[in-house]
Amino acid sequence: MRVKLPSPDDPGMRPLKATAGAAIALLALAACAGDPIDSSPTPATRGVLQAEAGMVVSAYPDASEAGAAVLRAGGNAVDAAIATGLALAVTHPTAGNIGGGGFMIIRFPDGRATAIDFREKAPLRAHPEMFVGEDGEYSYQIHHRSHLAVGVPGTVAGFALAHERYGSADWPELVEPSVTLARDGFVVSERLAASLEGRMEAFRDYPATFEQFYRDGVPYRPGEILAQSDLAGTLERIRDEGRDGFYRGATARLIAEEMERGGGWITEEDLARYEAQEREPIRGSYRGHEIISMPPPSSGGTALVQMLNILEGVDVAGLGAGTPEYAHHLIESMRHAFRDRAMHLADPDFADVPVARLTSKEYAAELRAGIDATAAGVSNPSDVEGAPPAESMETTHYSVVDADGMAVSVTYTLEGGYGSYITVPGAGFLLNNEMGDFNARPGLTDARGLIGTEPNLARPEQRMLSSMTPTIVARDGELVAVIGSPGGRTIINTVLQLVVNLVDFRESPEEIVAAKRLHHQWLPNAVRMETGFMPEADGERLAAMGHEVNWGRGQGIAHCIFVDAETGALVGVPDPRDSDGAAAGH
Ligand code: DON
Repeated sequence: MRVKLPSPDDPGMRPLKATAGAAIALLALAACAGDPIDSSPTPATRGVLQAEAGMVVSAYPDASEAGAAVLRAGGNAVDAAIATGLALAVTHPTAGNIGGGGFMIIRFPDGRATAIDFREKAPLRAHPEMFVGEDGEYSYQIHHRSHLAVGVPGTVAGFALAHERYGSADWPELVEPSVTLARDGFVVSERLAASLEGRMEAFRDYPATFEQFYRDGVPYRPGEILAQSDLAGTLERIRDEGRDGFYRGATARLIAEEMERGGGWITEEDLARYEAQEREPIRGSYRGHEIISMPPPSSGGTALVQMLNILEGVDVAGLGAGTPEYAHHLIESMRHAFRDRAMHLADPDFADVPVARLTSKEYAAELRAGIDATAAGVSNPSDVEGAPPAESMETTHYSVVDADGMAVSVTYTLEGGYGSYITVPGAGFLLNNEMGDFNARPGLTDARGLIGTEPNLARPEQRMLSSMTPTIVARDGELVAVIGSPGGRTIINTVLQLVVNLVDFRESPEEIVAAKRLHHQWLPNAVRMETGFMPEADGERLAAMGHEVNWGRGQGIAHCIFVDAETGALVGVPDPRDSDGAAAGH
């Protein structure tokens, strides 16, 4: 690992300093924030960017810029999404990854759309009782923080599949920016410095991770350069050999060796067998808008369309944003969708998921008819009490649109922040802890949000159920928005509220993203509400309907792109909840 203090000539700073697009981005960002242009190594990153010909919005400036540079060089939105995703694997280690997995929705300029599923899989040895300890009890530790918590990674296979079918640039050109960022380093932001400092004690138990993210045991300060030479080596293998650079040869061997050392079950055979899948997206409609989102093994698109269908029969605009009556109908829609999510959603290659019924207008009408306009949970009670678990925001979502109007929506993750905390020695990347998204154990359902239903139990090569909801909105054949968010189960509800803000409340792009959000997930029976969603006094009216309201905590980080209906301009909106979020375009 190489470390040096930043200077204006640092290669790690070049992407932001030396390109016209970045300069425009910084000008726009600074202007929006009302600040003078920031020439410090960690530039201001908040604010909205307008562009005509291409846009990337992601969780780190260098990653947005890596994608925008691909667009400027003539690559398409899929190419840019791959370059951005690989760059985030270097600059945004909480969630950006090559050791995890996720989902990509692509909408082509002619309105066709497709979905790339690169969700992790359980290894061949997996079984439903694998998270039970020697004492015969379910073990959170095994399920979430052990080598058994690691799923077979999918990201590199997903990007390779998307490139093979829909990319236009040469693969090495898409990987090279991330190689440079890893080899030469990038400027550490305040947020990343604080995040790494906060994890220092936890990472002491993971020597390869500790070595990778601290300089001789000392945290990086904002503005310093973090280089990751082992990661650069792995990315070079991916650049030169494509997916085989990850799933076969040296990288696969290093993963398998780490698994063996730590009692994990992933073998070189598991890695060689991993395949990303192309799937039919979920399609729905909401008041004349077309919704294109992720099918199972994510629950996201199905639950999103189910909730929108319920709300379509409610005068949402008439109820008004931030009113207790609107909140009540949102919550009741969530209560229904999350019950069905628990009952039915899982990997469609293993379970029969009734997607057509769950996303039908008829089913939504039946559910809506059971909703009492003034009382909580009447037709679908939530019989577990307690506050919903706090979901971490450490997945990441990014959005891309190119000059032809091809749009790409990607949400991918290591599951928890920094995943399993396990860095593969010699390979320099973090492994996910996605096995935690399988149900804990057959029959175990409780107030923490554990669900013991059958379809989403761990089985050999099954994909664990996800909530990630990369989504694209269109109307009359034209692209309207590219949206998505991190936040575990809150993701689906965040995306729901983005759509409602767009369609019913006709808010500006900034307001659509900044507006406060709420979350209910059927079990437990409680709402999490961002402070400011409504005046606290109105919260008492909601409580009088039978809702338990828990205030506070941010929900979601929605890095989105909207198309201005009048001018056709692309409006990139980094979520103001994330100080590192950045738009780059041209
Ligand atoms: O796939 C999922 O739904 C989760 N693994 C995403 C995790 C997330 O958003 C951050 N925190 N829990």
